Amino acid sequence: MTVKKICCIGAGYVGGPTMAVIAKQCPDIQVTVVDLNEARIAAWNDQDVNKIPVYEPGLSDIVAEARGRNLFFSTEVDKAIDEADMIFISVNTPTKTYGAGKGQAADLKWIELCARQIARVSTTDKIVVEKSTLPVRTASTLRDILHHTGNGVRFQILSNPEFLAEGTAVEDLLEPDRVLIGGDQDEEGKTAIEALVNVYSRWVPRERILTTNVWSSELSKLTANAFLAQRVSSINALSELCEHTEAEINEVARAIGTDSRIGPKFLKASVGFGGSCFQKDILNLVYIARSYGLTEVADYWEQVIIMNDHQKKRFANKIIRALYNTVNGKKIAFLGWAFKKDTNDTRESAAIYVADHLLYEQAQVAVYDPKVVEQQVYIDLDYLATRSTEENKTLVTVQNDPYEACKDAHAVAILTEWDEFKDYDWQRIYDSMLKPAKIFDGRNLLDKKKLEEIGFQVHAIGS
Ligand code: NAD
Ligand code: UDX
Repeated sequence: MTVKKICCIGAGYVGGPTMAVIAKQCPDIQVTVVDLNEARIAAWNDQDVNKIPVYEPGLSDIVAEARGRNLFFSTEVDKAIDEADMIFISVNTPTKTYGAGKGQAADLKWIELCARQIARVSTTDKIVVEKSTLPVRTASTLRDILHHTGNGVRFQILSNPEFLAEGTAVEDLLEPDRVLIGGDQDEEGKTAIEALVNVYSRWVPRERILTTNVWSSELSKLTANAFLAQRVSSINALSELCEHTEAEINEVARAIGTDSRIGPKFLKASVGFGGSCFQKDILNLVYIARSYGLTEVADYWEQVIIMNDHQKKRFANKIIRALYNTVNGKKIAFLGWAFKKDTNDTRESAAIYVADHLLYEQAQVAVYDPKVVEQQVYIDLDYLATRSTEENKTLVTVQNDPYEACKDAHAVAILTEWDEFKDYDWQRIYDSMLKPAKIFDGRNLLDKKKLEEIGFQVHAIGS
């Protein structure tokens, strides 16, 4: 079967970039990305491609190339579903905030809504692709809904988890380490798998396209994120030990990372991992393991989250301690709010939790981030519901100029590893701060020695 029309439900950080790249690489396939969120779709359609809602290096060029040719963004969900022969579900699957599994299980209500909508609208056979990250065995729920509509349409369900990382989405999509496709192992299932393989194989070498059964594919996504996050928590755990022993975490990371069995990636000690995926997916894994009665398995993975929470809190406490145990009324400049560099995404960013802890102690926080807009900072803090919107507005200011953010501050904290921070005029920043001027480098980004020569007191992670 040859795919001619693709519909993707969900125009978010995954749906948008993924479909833009498919459209770029397959000009003969019509790709329509749909979303309920009208503002988001309007932004994807903005004449000025620099105003698309997801900031990713290289993405606006791809959208400019394909949009209007074979890439479309629309709110007409039913129409796009009905016309497509392949439908990607790329909606959000956040942690449940209510009911059974609250705080751990993935909330699948949007997934189920999509399945019901597909079942209701479809008049021709379709391949439905799980692009969202889902708990293992979700495909059986989808199958149940899709196969009981009584309208005679046949559906094949594939799992095709997305491994892109934000900030490098375009690169990851154009040259993925692998593409994973899970499907039924019978004749029809294999035909569906082959149809999707034929889409990716236009630009991904065939040996990098792995095919498995559905359940292995679903579980592999949770597993990959759990392993990656575990590495960050492992190095962060050791960063604390370094701070007590005069060992240097960067040196330890280099020493172990050159062992080819360990490898050098994902060994950067930090203020803690953030992002919409790691915590959510591990909590989900923990929940699934617990639901099968696998207590030790659940406890093992939960520790990755416990360590990460500890790292964020530890960073905030370190600032408080170094500022003589009181930050009340003291200005602390935050450089960075996004959960990592080269993205405007702030979901679960460590900065939010570090700020919350400092605000609890009545600090005055001034935030500068090159890509995060002011409103988002307040949305993130308000979402925690720790204090009123008015209090957040009083205690936090958001600056467009990093030098303004740092002026008259007692301390500067680096929360995101944006490259531009390295090139700032640190002498100028030092001169404008209160003394002793302190820097808390949550990313080990800056040159500690140079800063100390200027006169800063520098506290870096794991040193
Ligand atoms: P997102 O919140 O940015 O986007 C999801 C979009 O789906 C939203 O715009 C929402 O309005 C839309 N939506 C929800 N229900 C809908 C419905 N019934 N009909 C139409 N639109 C609907 O989320 P995201 O970051 O793109 O993540 C999507 C999925 O991909 C999640 O399962 C996530 O775990 C997974 N994932 C994310 C990343 C990442 O880096 N963000 C990477 C890999 C996998
Ligand atoms: C992650 C996975 O990498 C990706 O494969 C998956 O599809 C989605 O989840 P993402 O969350 O976008 O991607 O970014 P990632 O680069 O994994 O970083 C996650 C967090 O870990 C960031 O806050 C980052 O700063 C932090 N991190 C990463 C570290 O603190 N140290 C490291 O060595 C690596």
